Amino acid sequence: MKNKVYINEKIKNFNKKIFVPGDKSLSIRFILLASQALGKSTAYNILKSEDVICALKSIKKLGIKYKLSKNRCVIYGKGFKGFNYKNNTIIDAGNSGTLSRLIFGLLVDSKNNIILKGDKSLSKRDFSRVINPMRMFGQNIKSKNNKLPIVLKGTKYPRPINYSELRGSAQVKSCILLAAMKTPGETKIKCIPSRNHTEKLFLHLNLPIKIKKERKYEIISFNGKKNYKAFDYKIPGDISSSSFFIALTLLTKKSKILIKNVNVNKSRTGIIDILKLMKAKIKLKNIRIYNGENIADIEVKSSDKLKPINCPTQMNSRSIDEFLLIFLICSVANGVSKFRNIEELRNKETDRLDFASKFLKKIGIKTKISKDSFKIYGNPTLKLNKIYEIKNFDKDHRACMLSFIAALAFGGKWIIHDTDSVNTSFPNFISLLKQLGAKIN
Ligand code: S3P
Repeated sequence: MKNKVYINEKIKNFNKKIFVPGDKSLSIRFILLASQALGKSTAYNILKSEDVICALKSIKKLGIKYKLSKNRCVIYGKGFKGFNYKNNTIIDAGNSGTLSRLIFGLLVDSKNNIILKGDKSLSKRDFSRVINPMRMFGQNIKSKNNKLPIVLKGTKYPRPINYSELRGSAQVKSCILLAAMKTPGETKIKCIPSRNHTEKLFLHLNLPIKIKKERKYEIISFNGKKNYKAFDYKIPGDISSSSFFIALTLLTKKSKILIKNVNVNKSRTGIIDILKLMKAKIKLKNIRIYNGENIADIEVKSSDKLKPINCPTQMNSRSIDEFLLIFLICSVANGVSKFRNIEELRNKETDRLDFASKFLKKIGIKTKISKDSFKIYGNPTLKLNKIYEIKNFDKDHRACMLSFIAALAFGGKWIIHDTDSVNTSFPNFISLLKQLGAKIN
């Protein structure tokens, strides 16, 4: 695949039905949980992106076999004691924050050293968020500045913990839950709600998880060390991947899209609620439930006269991966949009707050940025006619895909570098855009 593309014209109006690939969070969780199940687990429609392939390679390094065919992924789990690997085995998490954080949990009782490493972007990210709780379980962790590479060794006698997770990070919560699963006794987490796929999978596997909802927090308690049987799972489409097409449709005149079979779990649909508050034309159709997850078809129509938003902070973790797109849409809203408590965006594959402010400036939109807040002065008549070159974004897949959407929606001449970044989460992104009529060279 070419690593630099040119986009020289807006996309023409379209009316299409599409499918996006399987959900990344669920694909990685399936692999990790199936690696600990007793027997052969099968996932259908698993995402075949680089992050997910890294998860498969990681469990293979730990002695678990898998088979990946066209639309099926089979994992041969051997229960909690099934990992088998040599001392100082290297696990490469690539670009994946989710894999690299969650795998600490599974290795709570690992017998030999594991050396966990990642790509350049992952090696800049902070791991204290998982190192701290995992040390409380008794895991031995050696790292320089809480960054990768990290050497991990489990403990024979993991201890259950009480932990407050106040960032709203699903990766931290899930890491703790996976460790709790292999730890006798009751682990308790007080947390700001975040995506809850791990909890839903635990319920699906009949694992003894209890969730109490309070006004601001959730209290999750889990009694560990119950082996579970292999399971099958159909992975629905990813709302985060769908969001690029939601944005493109809203911003393109006289267009309509139906995105079929998407996971619309409430903990992930912040973008839909935010856009509806902005008066975007979005409808969830044919809502059904599968293994505790809500699935729907998402219908979107072009929407002008978008209102600005003063974004309620409870939306933050529900739309954490979609803020770049939300900011882009706010660029054409009729007024000033405001976002608070969004410092977590600085800890993603790249500093997304900094990226957004530079990106919007490039396309002529005024913004005000602070450590943890962002204001966007929308311009409903925005039209682009200059040359825009996008590079140096730490190969952040979402920053890269955002640039395609801006180019196709607003015009101008665009040169986008490092386009192989899209393979992290959405390998057929460019071919789907072409199906809608986009001209990309
Ligand atoms: C994820 C959690 C989020 C999200 C990431 C996927 C997950 O990260 O940004 O893309 O699958 O648990 P945080 O836990 O850091 O918010």
